[in-house]
Amino acid sequence: MHTQWAAVDAYINDLFPSDPVLDAVLHATRDAGMPQINVSPVQGRLLHVLALACNARNILEIGTLAGYSAIWMARALPADGRLITLEADPKHADVARANLARAGLAERVEVRLGMALAVLPQLAAEGSGPFDLIFIDADKENLTVYFDWAVRLARPSGLIIVDNVIRGGEVLNDSSSDAGLQGVRRFNEALAADSRVTATILQMVGSKGYDGMALAVVKG
Ligand code: SAH
Ligand code: DHB
Ligand code: MG
Repeated sequence: MHTQWAAVDAYINDLFPSDPVLDAVLHATRDAGMPQINVSPVQGRLLHVLALACNARNILEIGTLAGYSAIWMARALPADGRLITLEADPKHADVARANLARAGLAERVEVRLGMALAVLPQLAAEGSGPFDLIFIDADKENLTVYFDWAVRLARPSGLIIVDNVIRGGEVLNDSSSDAGLQGVRRFNEALAADSRVTATILQMVGSKGYDGMALAVVKG
């Protein structure tokens, strides 16, 4: 199945005009020896479309890697819009800053170095936000905590997107010893019971195999 999912994903991607900047960003990520766990091109396009659909002017991302998903979302911003992206690994942050500069987005995007659990309270204290769109894509152990911060930092009717909530179907395994997987399971259950948001969970297939994203709108 994976071969066909990847082939159809490539088909979808190839329908659209090619994008040398984004291709260069993926090359730079590979050349830097970083993990290739960025969202796929088709998923990046989804983030872009959703950012446009919610008229995002102020976006928060948790988990930058090389800036690939940040570029897709930041391209949906108006000229005075802002995106803040949180990254714990200094090397990833450096590569991301270079990639964002290459994409002409250095002014609009701030890569904030630090552990998300430490930086999120700082953002709240600084009065950052409210954010129209928040994309959560860092470690999975702390998903539920990140989501709580996201609900606090989002504007009413703000959209929160959470990556990797299906994990090849492993999410059904209630006896997994993988801490990340347990974090995902805890998150999905908490999301479904969370009266602050209206949410759903999407299964997805494509070049990254079988996974999914949760979508939540904060009640107004
Ligand atoms: N959103 C990116 C991919 C992010 S991969 C894209 O699609 O292009 C996950 C990133 O989260 C990695 O760069 C990792 O270093 C970072 N990360 C992991 N734990 C973190 C934490 N506690 N705080 C901040 N960043 C973290
Ligand atoms: C992993 C992390 C991700 O955010 C992702 O989209 C895919 C894989 C990982 O840690 O393996
Ligand atoms: Mg991810």
